[in-house]
Amino acid sequence: MSDDTELATEAQIAVHWKEEQYFEPSQAFIAQANMQDASIRERFSEENFPECYREYADMLDWFKPYDQVLDSSNPPFWKWFVGGKLNVAYNCIDRHLAQHRNKAAFIFVGEPEEEEPYAMTYQELWVRVNEMAALLRDHCGLKAGDRVTLHMPMTLELPITMLACARLGVVHSQVFGGFSGKAAGDRIADSGSDWLITMDAYWRSGKLIDHREKVAPALEEAKSLGKTGVKVLVWQRYPGKDSSKTPMVEGRDAFVNDILKDYRGKRVEPVHMDAEAPLFLMYSSGTTGKPKGCQHRTGGYLAYVAATSKYIQDIHPSDTYWCMADIGWITGHSYIVYGPLAIGATSVVYEGTPTFPDHNRPWRIAERLGVNIFHTSPTAIRALRRLDPDAPSKGPQNFKHMTTVGEPIEPKAWRWYHEQVGKGKAVICDTWWQTENGGFLISTVPALEKMKPGSAGPGLPGVYPIILDDDGNELPAGSGKAGNLCIRNPWPGIMQTIWGDDERYVDTYYRRFCKNPDSKDWRDWPYISGDGAIDAEDGYYRILGRIDDVINVSGHRLGTKEIESACLTVAEVAEAAVVAVHDDIKGTVPEVYVSVPVNVTDRDAVATKVIRACEDIIGKIARPERVYVVPDMPKTRSGKIMRRVLGAISNRRDTGDVSTLANPEVVEEIRILVQSR
Ligand code: PRX
Repeated sequence: MSDDTELATEAQIAVHWKEEQYFEPSQAFIAQANMQDASIRERFSEENFPECYREYADMLDWFKPYDQVLDSSNPPFWKWFVGGKLNVAYNCIDRHLAQHRNKAAFIFVGEPEEEEPYAMTYQELWVRVNEMAALLRDHCGLKAGDRVTLHMPMTLELPITMLACARLGVVHSQVFGGFSGKAAGDRIADSGSDWLITMDAYWRSGKLIDHREKVAPALEEAKSLGKTGVKVLVWQRYPGKDSSKTPMVEGRDAFVNDILKDYRGKRVEPVHMDAEAPLFLMYSSGTTGKPKGCQHRTGGYLAYVAATSKYIQDIHPSDTYWCMADIGWITGHSYIVYGPLAIGATSVVYEGTPTFPDHNRPWRIAERLGVNIFHTSPTAIRALRRLDPDAPSKGPQNFKHMTTVGEPIEPKAWRWYHEQVGKGKAVICDTWWQTENGGFLISTVPALEKMKPGSAGPGLPGVYPIILDDDGNELPAGSGKAGNLCIRNPWPGIMQTIWGDDERYVDTYYRRFCKNPDSKDWRDWPYISGDGAIDAEDGYYRILGRIDDVINVSGHRLGTKEIESACLTVAEVAEAAVVAVHDDIKGTVPEVYVSVPVNVTDRDAVATKVIRACEDIIGKIARPERVYVVPDMPKTRSGKIMRRVLGAISNRRDTGDVSTLANPEVVEEIRILVQSR
């Protein structure tokens, strides 16, 4: 690790957790589980790779069968189910109609509790997706391969729009609704979208938020990056009523509901898409400022999320499944929309904050809808625990299965989740994966493998993780030593590339540990996750968190460089450094250090501007927990900012030897400033 990077603090904590005892799944769970057959490990062993993945592809309906499971002749540009043709919307909706027309595909729960939950059947979803697809095709002129940017909140219009795109082969790029207009604009320009689809307003923490106000900054940003002429479609949170105060712009903006009237009763044949056609882009933070458009494929992705929804989430058609993530993140794409629908499940979509109007809301929703599979993040678990540690055990919820995702979960929080929320009965899957991966990569198979708090588990069947040291040497299995978590083999859910930047894809995920750049053998091309991990003796992986310049806040990645460049837009700021700080609820949060010229005296005003800049440019999720305006940054003699030293101060740790710095005296000054706050 180089001098000026900051070791993720979560890693330093997780590495010190004790080995925990195992928890067994209950007999009742095992008896009903979708995957009870321990031979799956054998079927998906390396000898049977990649042919084993036929089992996943067979879960889908294909218009044309594939000729080859994996074409790995051009690493690391893998091709899955080559030659096959299918349609994602057909697989998620049409094929369920004969049996399940009247079954709820989604149950929408608005944040205001007085609004009744709304169950949308597969039949209605089919009608609405067809009409929206007709609109996109005939009104917008969109066709397979075109990109569309969505900047939508958590309402059913979001999956309807995604599935309408998928029906046409249009590539959707949904930007998390909480992100700023500017962030949406960057993604519009990068993806080359001619259309932005948004919504007028949505509920969050008791407020009807004006969401359309983000359109103007989005289009301004896109324009500054050379993308002009973008048109805007606006869904209405309450159809027929405009809930935003921001004026519509004539000729540019139109209400979807108005135009849809022309498409009533229209049906659109699902386009037969190549298995390798891109399905969607999902932008993710990386080590440099520019977010990466992770490009996901049609066939491999859908097969992977369908199978993992069935075997890891253990969803049966009769279950009610609720994933509390936002559809604007990969978790929502894979495990609210595509995976559950591909297997004909009922998936709950909740609009608002879990703790609104109080911390018992999730248990009330679960009871009302009969949710028996629950999926959330350690941040939400910690927040609920803090608000009322005894509440869930008395609550009415009755879960058979619970998932955690996005961050390491400490054994204490895990046990609370198990005992209080799951009432000691529900199995827990601690699922490790990333935006780039499409679906779960590490987790226990719930009926087959014991749980161990603090450890995600072994690689999924067909996924072969490995820990490499910094020189790329494999640590022996079960070494118990920390190192770089890599995956030795490709899998169907992996991204195809970074949109428009093949080289960055190779550089980011493969270059460093590639054994031979000329090799055509996938075994020479391990996938680099960017996480640290430990492989324990039992083959369970304990994830230690990011080892690069990425901060994981509430289970979502923010690039430190992204935040720093936002800080640097404030005129008074000369230098900025962001560090990850341990937080009891959110795992880690960003703290910002900025230096200002000596003539700037109103430091509070600068701090306020820095916070506003982060919120405006990235979104509220990037709001720094604290901003310190310092006289100077600790620097190496070559002028590099020592983020490691700042991180140590923020986390109240020893800064180590700073005598070799160019300006060691500033360290003490900063420590006094920080620790007096
Ligand atoms: O550091 C890991 C952490 O979240 C990162 C991926 O973030 P993102 O692409 O936003 O996707 C989040 C949801 C898939 C990883 O590099 N992470 C994810 N799951 C876990 C985790 N850390 C520990 N345990 C997990 N179960």
